[in-house]
Amino acid sequence: MDARTIRRTFTEFFTDRDHRAMASAPLIAPGDPTLLFTSAGMVPFKPFFLGEATPPQPRLTSVQKCFRTTDIDETGDASHLTFFEMLGNFSLGEYFKEEAQAWAWELLTGVIGVPKDRLVCTVFTDDDDAFENWRKLGVPAERIFRYGEENYWYVGDVGPCGPSAELHYDLNPAGGEIRGPEQEQDRWLEIWNLVFMQFQRHPDGSKTPLPKQNIDTGAGLDRWAVMLQDKPDVYATDLFAPLIEYVAGRADRDYTAADDRERRALRVVVEHGRAMTFLIADGAIPGNEGRGYVLRRLIRRALYMAHTLGIRDPLLSGIAEQVRGQMGDVYPEINEQAALVEQVLDQEEERFVQTLATGHALLEEQTIPLKRRLSEVTAAAAPALRAATESEVPALAGAWLQQLEKGAARSGGLHNRRLAAITTEAAAAPARELAAGGSADLALARSEEALGRITGQEAFVLYDTYGVPREVTAEVATSAGLELDVEGFEAALAEQQERARADGTFRHDEAAALFAEIDGRSEFSGYAGIDDQGRVLAVIMKGERVQRAEAGAEVELVLDRTPFYAEGGGQVGDAGTLEAEGVAVEIADAQPRGDLIAHIGRVASGSVAPGDVLRARVDPARRLGVMRNHTATHLLHAALRGVLGDHARQAGSLVAADHLRFDYTQAEAPTAEQLREVQRLVNAKVRENIPVATQEMSYEDALETGAMAIFGEKYEADVRVVQICDPDPHVHDCFSKELCGGTHAPATGLIGSFVIQSESSIGAGLRRIEALTGEAAEAWLEQRVGELRAVADLLKTRPEDAPDRLRALQDEAQTLRRRLAAIEAQAGASSAAALADEPADVDGVPVVAGRVEVESADALRRAGDEVREKLGSGVIVLGALAAERPIFVAMVTDDLVARGLHAGNIVRDVAKLAGGGGGGKAEMAQAGGKDAGQIDTALATTADLVRGQLNPHD
Ligand code: SER
Repeated sequence: MDARTIRRTFTEFFTDRDHRAMASAPLIAPGDPTLLFTSAGMVPFKPFFLGEATPPQPRLTSVQKCFRTTDIDETGDASHLTFFEMLGNFSLGEYFKEEAQAWAWELLTGVIGVPKDRLVCTVFTDDDDAFENWRKLGVPAERIFRYGEENYWYVGDVGPCGPSAELHYDLNPAGGEIRGPEQEQDRWLEIWNLVFMQFQRHPDGSKTPLPKQNIDTGAGLDRWAVMLQDKPDVYATDLFAPLIEYVAGRADRDYTAADDRERRALRVVVEHGRAMTFLIADGAIPGNEGRGYVLRRLIRRALYMAHTLGIRDPLLSGIAEQVRGQMGDVYPEINEQAALVEQVLDQEEERFVQTLATGHALLEEQTIPLKRRLSEVTAAAAPALRAATESEVPALAGAWLQQLEKGAARSGGLHNRRLAAITTEAAAAPARELAAGGSADLALARSEEALGRITGQEAFVLYDTYGVPREVTAEVATSAGLELDVEGFEAALAEQQERARADGTFRHDEAAALFAEIDGRSEFSGYAGIDDQGRVLAVIMKGERVQRAEAGAEVELVLDRTPFYAEGGGQVGDAGTLEAEGVAVEIADAQPRGDLIAHIGRVASGSVAPGDVLRARVDPARRLGVMRNHTATHLLHAALRGVLGDHARQAGSLVAADHLRFDYTQAEAPTAEQLREVQRLVNAKVRENIPVATQEMSYEDALETGAMAIFGEKYEADVRVVQICDPDPHVHDCFSKELCGGTHAPATGLIGSFVIQSESSIGAGLRRIEALTGEAAEAWLEQRVGELRAVADLLKTRPEDAPDRLRALQDEAQTLRRRLAAIEAQAGASSAAALADEPADVDGVPVVAGRVEVESADALRRAGDEVREKLGSGVIVLGALAAERPIFVAMVTDDLVARGLHAGNIVRDVAKLAGGGGGGKAEMAQAGGKDAGQIDTALATTADLVRGQLNPHD
């Protein structure tokens, strides 16, 4: 049974039983900050399980794209995948264990025809109901196994969970007595997990019952393909075989004939290649943290494996193309985003090639030679140290240390100081310690060990700063006859991760705990108005709850009701004042804290305490600016999609009072004309003064009406849809419809005007627009026009003629520059030639020293050549001022070089007097100085210098 048929058979089985087939959600879990990726079929339905949203139907089924990071390092073996498709059926408070188990059994053994004697079942330790259900279906008791933790399923640290029952398929029916899936892991393939979703796990680990008893089942399509196509592993199934063939072809390998290492490399490349195609199509962009980092790691690992297979030409977009050919009809998003996927992959691939080059260069040109030099130093110091008496050791160790430092300093063109310091320190630390006492043998051994291999620290810097994979470092090290300290590398990596973790959770947890203790919630009343009253629930100063805050205190105040919008969805928090009789608090920002809104500011007068009722007034001008910019952001988003295509999706947004910033996915830079078109379209919608309507509805209903959900936003049970639609009920023409909790203009006309300030690339496949609205847009345009007018005035023309006038001036300047250069060269040559007419005589040697009016070292040298030609024999030193700095050239004719005169030394000494330096060969040399006032004085010493060189022993 091919993969296509499996998907269809599964879906039809459950739609025939009243399930609604749901489309796969994106891999980037929409609105779920607890998960980086959609990691199971149930993830998009979490709000339904938690009772936060109503499902469109209580029975659902889906084939969901999933991505799991847990197994990245295991991929390449027979079974671990990062990306896979999960078949599932779900009951939201309707049927429970009995039906779920019966249907699973029926589909497998009845519809598909999997032999019953190749299946075993499991249940959670004490789940007798589930046990009995299997028994009722005819499963013998010895084929039902009870397990503990293995049969309990959680989604993330927080969220719905419950005990499960599983079905396992026998990969080795000739294996004899059945001991159980846990006992014989290689023999059994877990093909279906039925979770009885009844509890919710909380951050502290405790569990509470969910509103209803639910079913969540998950079956890996890839595993079913292994089972139903009777293949040894997923790479042999129709899901992967064509990809394997493609990559093996690119590597000039025969997959079946390849050795284990190569086979594994091929598998990693195709597995990761498929995953990255889907991740990018769903909006992930390579980066240095979070999802972006996972994606980058995947790309780099695949590229490294391809590298070991000898593939040197660009590969990844080729794989993405294969994936499209194979799965594009099932998941059209990979076709729609083809250009973006290719651009991102090509760029990352190029970067990786550079990374490899940098890694090689640093190791081969810096680290390894430095280690060799330091090894020589240590080898030279060793005999004396070993033979030394105890009292001699400190002095010898000091000398050794000095030699090491000298060796390190001698390295010249180092590429990376931090890396050099690490290399040096590893060798020098034992020497330094030895200088204070200890065993010379031990210190030498430690130093030799550090110099004889690439240390963990070195490999870590290469990895962390340059992205050089550990394997590449090891490869270069090996070819230089060194080893890599793998354990040291792992330790350095673990230490960094630990640091990152400690930084992140500490602050987060403390603040969360503080706010979790506050009873009540903040009701936001700011859609309707910006002036309201609220009671103070808590007063927080310096991270602690207090009973009163006096004038001058920096505070966070939590009210039970407030018109202040707390930062979210890209929109900044409101500012304004909280007041009561004799009390004023200036609020600079409002931030969400769970269900609460914290007003952050300063008590200006009076004092505040919990229980006080305050009048809350949002700064109206600032809020108006925010509203303009938020509504304009929606118009911009819709206009971009209209002009550039549906792939242009929001990837980030900032809505402030004075400007807006909008990041979106798009492979190539839009043309200037496209941007103008976007701006025109937005302004046209502004002039139409379309009402902005908001409506609350369930998440599902919202998506069904075509509203756009922005990935990465958290949506509550009931979502708010902001729509900018033609008010005529017969038209039904919506320019924009988005899920959004922000505050908006009542109608687009309020925006006034919209202008794009800048458009730029902010990473592979990601672009940014900065724009202004209302008065800010007007002021910006006014300023531009003013500047243009000023330019026109300077050009003595009208603004519309300014560009032509400027071009004409540029041409003229160019012509003049060329003529000036020619004249100068001529003048320089003739003034130099004049110098040659009267050479000084220094002990019979003709010496010409003087200043010429040229502006470049080149022209100065040519002037020197001219003089030399004329003199035939002699010493010439010329000086000039180029870009306000002195430059010098010295020449000595060959006959005089033979008498010991040296142009390099002469020019060095001359330049020294002008505050500079330089030197070169005996025949010709150049130098520069700093002190323009000293040119003539410096040149005047020439005769003495020549005399000195002619009579070295005077
Ligand atoms: N959520 C469970 C799993 O992922 C069953 O769908 O295995």
